[in-house]
Amino acid sequence: MCGIVGCILKDDEDVAPILLDCISKLEYRGYDSIGIATFHDNHINVKKDKGKIEEVDNKLDLADMPGNFGIAHVRWATHGDPSKLNSHPQLDEDNTVAVVHNGIIENYLEIKEKLTLEGHVFKSDTDTEVIPHLIQKFIKEKFDLEHAVRKTIDVIEGAYAIAAISLNEPDKIVATRKDSPLIVGIGDGGYYLASDSPAILKYARDIIYPERGEIVILDKEGVVVHDEFDNVVNKDIETINWTPEMAEKEGYDHFMIKEINEQASAVRNTLTQKENIQNIIDDLEGIERICFVACGTSYHASLTGKYLIESLAGIPTDVVLASEFKYSANTLNDKTLVIFISQSGETADSLKALDVANQTSKTLGIVNVAGSSITRRAQYVIQTQAGPEIGVAATKTYLSQLTAIYLFAALISNNAELLKELDNVPDFIDESLENVDLIEDLSRRYNFARDFFYLGRGYSYPTALEGALKLKEITYIHGEGYAAGELKHGPLALIDEGIPVVVIIPPGDNYRKTMSNLEEVKSRGANVLAIGAANDESLKAKADDVIPINENVKEIIAPLIYIVPLQLIAYYITLEKGHDPDKPKNLAKCVTVE
Ligand code: M6R
Repeated sequence: MCGIVGCILKDDEDVAPILLDCISKLEYRGYDSIGIATFHDNHINVKKDKGKIEEVDNKLDLADMPGNFGIAHVRWATHGDPSKLNSHPQLDEDNTVAVVHNGIIENYLEIKEKLTLEGHVFKSDTDTEVIPHLIQKFIKEKFDLEHAVRKTIDVIEGAYAIAAISLNEPDKIVATRKDSPLIVGIGDGGYYLASDSPAILKYARDIIYPERGEIVILDKEGVVVHDEFDNVVNKDIETINWTPEMAEKEGYDHFMIKEINEQASAVRNTLTQKENIQNIIDDLEGIERICFVACGTSYHASLTGKYLIESLAGIPTDVVLASEFKYSANTLNDKTLVIFISQSGETADSLKALDVANQTSKTLGIVNVAGSSITRRAQYVIQTQAGPEIGVAATKTYLSQLTAIYLFAALISNNAELLKELDNVPDFIDESLENVDLIEDLSRRYNFARDFFYLGRGYSYPTALEGALKLKEITYIHGEGYAAGELKHGPLALIDEGIPVVVIIPPGDNYRKTMSNLEEVKSRGANVLAIGAANDESLKAKADDVIPINENVKEIIAPLIYIVPLQLIAYYITLEKGHDPDKPKNLAKCVTVE
């Protein structure tokens, strides 16, 4: 998704190198173009083009722009191809106003038509271009930049975080947001805007979180926030406890492998949330039903939650994809707890669903990014403690979400045995990472496959879905996760000679039935790659390859450990295929459009 940055420095240093550094930290969001605008000598300088930041920088020397304030953008195309013209900043036709935008302006076509009739000439195919045109129109009508932005947001519909600069008001950046993320950083050397904190961690860790419809004005003297009635809002300043180093690769080749290796500590740190979770449970009286709402990997964590809560606490639990949630809204009431699972806390589908759930039910967010929209709008919050996750593929945040869900399930069902078991998980995770040489070897053998199947039963079924998602998103190989018992109801027809089938088969209640399903695919020629207990000799005899996991890992906690080799398989196959695991094509880390 698009990322925006803005900065105004207190002294007269050039801001472009800082803007470039900050916007580079948002590469992980997924993008196809980059652009910067700075203000200098009564002129707005713009450098922008499609391509990776490094390529565009080599061509245009992005850091070489005069001016001590400006805005920058990475674009993830929605309206119009990736191209120089469609890149942001977008400007009005006289180059007097420059704007960067994250989100979608839903009514841009009708605005464009109207402005065209008034004589405006548009150059790009973007929805965003109407914004600088509207701001310029209102400035011509004698509004200052702040009020021109305010008038503009009265006209546009959709989701947006916007930052604008204008020739009419030197030394000022005006920003606002609705349903797209935006934070304001207060640093020693200046004031910052960004879509996400990793962009500015190096420069500012004191953060203000603007609410929907608030207008933020940055100048050399500081930051002022106005509400929709022009009143000054006294915003809390919150200090982020993430460090700049946490958002660096720290010697690893990719963020993804760094983050896989950080999983034991992500789990350990999230286990510290036990008291907070107990307090929330104590406060939740009369809950008769739980409904998880999430997308992607967070949806898979939620599915594991359903198995845990239904089997341990006997509370009926549903799991709904956030984008489909509104169709179940009629079943909600004040005895329903709706739990939103999200790494970013900014996923548009989840936020829309949260607004719906807040009208009838109790809501709880399990979120990794502090201060994000879900943490501000949910009634209760559990903060997972994974630290910043930069790789697009969720890994350590998945395990920290699972940890929070396991704690919740164990505490709500008073299950002391499971609580004790959870303390062993970090060591089991570290031990599972020791399979890396074997997995590298398997990845060399399996990377030519066109399709993979992943099978698991019970607690291992969501693990199968998540393993398949990891494969799809970074290797671009087709992978399907199935409940092992479901295969014979149709997909078995797809099993051919040599097709890789990954079977997740921890010791426990589901072992024998899963083994029968393994034999079904094996007898139809599949190449079985099993993840199972290290001492399971009969598995070794039946599967083509086995990735061993400590035999003391019980079935109930297997989702926290058995996923690790599946993440590693996806990572190493991606390397074999020569793709960048951190920035898969077409995908964005934080999906801020519906
Ligand atoms: O930030 P969220 O957890 O709400 O994001 C939801 C999905 O977009 C996300 O989990 C996505 O599926 C992962 N990046 C996949 O690895």
